[in-house]
Formats: sequence, structure tokens, C-alpha cells
Amino acid sequence: MASRVRVGIAGTGAYLPDRVVPNSYFEEFLDTSDEWIVQRTGIHQRRFAAPDQATSDLSVHAAEQALEAAGIGAEDLDLIVLGTLTPDYLLPSTACLVQKKLGATNAGAFDVNAACTGFLTALHTAEAFIAAGRARRVLAIGAETLSRFIDEKERGSCILFGDGAGAAVLAPHDECGQGEILRTKLGADGSGYEFIHMSAGGSKRPATHETVEAGEHFIRLKGREVYRFAVKYMSSLIEEMMETHDPEELSLVVPHQVNERIIQAALERLGMSDEKVLINIHKYANTSAATVPIALDEARREGRIEKDKLVVLVAFGAGLTWGASLLRW
Ligand code: UT7
Repeated sequence: MASRVRVGIAGTGAYLPDRVVPNSYFEEFLDTSDEWIVQRTGIHQRRFAAPDQATSDLSVHAAEQALEAAGIGAEDLDLIVLGTLTPDYLLPSTACLVQKKLGATNAGAFDVNAACTGFLTALHTAEAFIAAGRARRVLAIGAETLSRFIDEKERGSCILFGDGAGAAVLAPHDECGQGEILRTKLGADGSGYEFIHMSAGGSKRPATHETVEAGEHFIRLKGREVYRFAVKYMSSLIEEMMETHDPEELSLVVPHQVNERIIQAALERLGMSDEKVLINIHKYANTSAATVPIALDEARREGRIEKDKLVVLVAFGAGLTWGASLLRW
């Protein structure tokens, strides 16, 4: 059997749409307050895409930055894997639209739907293709236009989400010399499928006037149940990624930006200090599949990752799904 190719992250990129939506926007038509939202979630504002922007458009901006950081062109890509729960269309995949817009003429392209675990699922898929020698340069994207799927009448969920995209170019570690993926993990438990759910618009319940009128195409969630699941998995996945390493080796944890209180509760369980974690939920809210690559790009550009030290990426979400990666930078 051929030996496994070591895989690294050659470059990252992120894109946030221009429109900043502060918490006060929701105060105008909902029984809510900036104080409640900040206290319960840590969110101060989020970005919403312009009417003419969809998930593929956000993705292309992030991908162009990642390609530039990696020092390669779109035509050098062998594959594009895009994680999203808010595709431009049900058919075809958003990855194909990105392939066209980038001019990635030599790349295959497909989407993965693992909700907030979407980027980690794309990353793991990309890594597996390169490790097996089936591709050399792969673009992994996490991107969402969640503003199109929130019910602005539901104060328990609509305040949580924002739009954005993040991307990473993966390549053989011999070639890029950074961000080596040492370990990965994906998991799922479909018995929790109703915890975060869009109940109509698919084959089980096709869109009709009635489903649209009832807002069944919007995201519904059971916040308390997700809260408990998220604290448990965030702490146990970080522990698992680090189990054979000295805690001193850890430079940064880049978690899914689900809720600042959930992140803090997980840190407390682990006895880990705030400086070891990147939190940017106050600026962008929860952008689902995009939170981890946006935060990773921010960490890289702001020099938050120490050379030769470890980075843990961790996410969980609808499905239920969860995933984590251990990288050496
Ligand atoms: O990435 C995966 C998707 N994300 C999630 O699934 C979110 C995970 N869950 C959470 O982040 C939290 O559970 C929430 C932020 C959604 C809610 O926070 P909580 O501390 O769990 O509040 P709660 O749901 O227990 O609600 C407490 C109260 C309720 O009122 P009563 O029943 O005590 O009178 C809610 O109706 O807060 C009320 N409430 C609000 N009040 C003002 C819920 N949303 C709001 C709001 N403004 N926006």
C-alpha cells in the first residue's frame, strides 16, 4: 500500500458582507433587547449579505484570498469541497458555482451538508483525498447566507445567526510546510435531527403555499437541548484531540462560534484560560459552517498561532454532527 501523504493548510481566507446589523435592529420589531442578546450569547452584531449576494458569492471572495495566501491559482486546484446548509440552490451544488466563478477548470466540485460541522467535514474530506494521493491541491470552504433562512418572528433563534464565508487551501505538507493536519474526528447522532431543523422544502415535505405560509422553510431550534450537547462535545473533543500532547504545546483552540457562554462553559470544564481560545462571535454571530474558517483566518492574520505549536479546530451542529482537527502550525 502506498504511504499516506502528510497534508497541510497552505493558505486561508475569509469574507464578511459589508452590512453590519446591530442587536438594536431586532429591538425595532421583537420583544428583545441588546442587553439580553449580549448577556445570553455574547453577540453584539452580525453581517447580512446584500440582496444580490448568495452563498457562492461569499465563498468566491474567501476562496480568492485563500488561493492568494497559498500562492497558487484556481486552475491548480484538483477539487473544491464546500460545506453549507444554505446553498444557492438545492440543485446544482454551490461548489459547482464556485468552480465556475473562480475559473477552477481542473477541479471536481461538490457540497457537503453537515450544518455547523460543514467546514470540518470539508476539511477532512479534502485531507483524505490528498493523503490517499487522489488530489494535490484542494479548496475547503465553509459558507452561509443564514439571513435568508431565519424567521424574524422567532426571537429565540433569529438573533443568533449571521452571513459569511471562510476557506482553506490544502496541499501536501512537503510543499506548504505549515498547518499539518495530525488528527481528525467526525461524529453524528441522527436521533437528534429535530434539535436544529428546517422541516419543509425537501423531499419529505416539498414546498407548498402552506409550508411557506407557516414558515416551515426557516431554521427552528431547541436552544436548551443544543446548549447542553454543545458544552459536552466542545470540551470532550478538545480533550480527545490533545490526549497524547502536553497542554503547553497548545497554541490556540478555534471553536465553532455558537454562543460565548457555551465556549466559556467548555473552557471552565477543561480549566483552560481565555487566551488559548479565539472568540469573535461578538462581531459576526453564528455563521454556522463558516465560523471555524473565518476564525482560523483571523487567528493566522493576527499572528495568534505560534509556529510549531498545536491548534485545535472544533465544531458541532445540526444532524446532530460534530468534528475536530488537530493541526501543527
Ligand atoms: O450552532 C448551532 C445552532 N445554535 C443553537 O442551537 C443555539 C444554542 N443555544 C443557545 O445558544 C441558547 O440556548 C439560546 C441563546 C438560544 C437561548 O439562551 P438560554 O439561556 O438557553 O435561554 P432560554 O431558551 O432558556 O430562554 C430563557 C428566556 C425564555 O423566557 P421565559 O420562558 O423564561 O419567560 C425565552 O422566551 O428568554 C426568552 N428569550 C428571549 N428574551 C429576549 C428567548 N429569546 C429571547 C430574546 N430576547 N431574543
